[in-house]
Amino acid sequence: MNKILVINGPNLNLLGTREPEIYGSTTLDDINKMLKVQADKLGVKIDFIQSNIEGEIVTAIQNARAVYDFILLNAAAFTHYSVAIRDAISAIDVPVIEIHLSNVHAREEFRHHSVIAPVVLGQISGFGVDSYIAALDIAVRKIRGDIK
Ligand code: DQA
Repeated sequence: MNKILVINGPNLNLLGTREPEIYGSTTLDDINKMLKVQADKLGVKIDFIQSNIEGEIVTAIQNARAVYDFILLNAAAFTHYSVAIRDAISAIDVPVIEIHLSNVHAREEFRHHSVIAPVVLGQISGFGVDSYIAALDIAVRKIRGDIK
């Protein structure tokens, strides 16, 4: 069975109460449950990691080698400055989709730049929980060869 790893970065454990006007009122647990239902429907295995610690995310990306077929990554604030996470993505051959709940390009200037964008397959930003659902759908269709 194909396996997908969802990695969420700093402060995303506070979803639901964290700036709900920006990030919505859905908790991370709710998002993961929705993704699990969708993964079951699509017939893939899905695992979840959340960490506030950059090094733990680097290690999770490294450990995904030869285990996972795809990574869905919301690196949160690390998106904008973590060269270590960017290098970890470059170091492995597991494809990564970059996810954001909010439209980072419509927010503060410092959120417009993603250091990981050049080394991921693509970015989905601005659709709330549906950014994750869309990423899962694309990952599965890529794995199956339905899309190039
Ligand atoms: C975020 C956007 C980032 O700029 C921010 O630091 C986050 C969440 C998003 O999902 O919209 O923590 O990645």
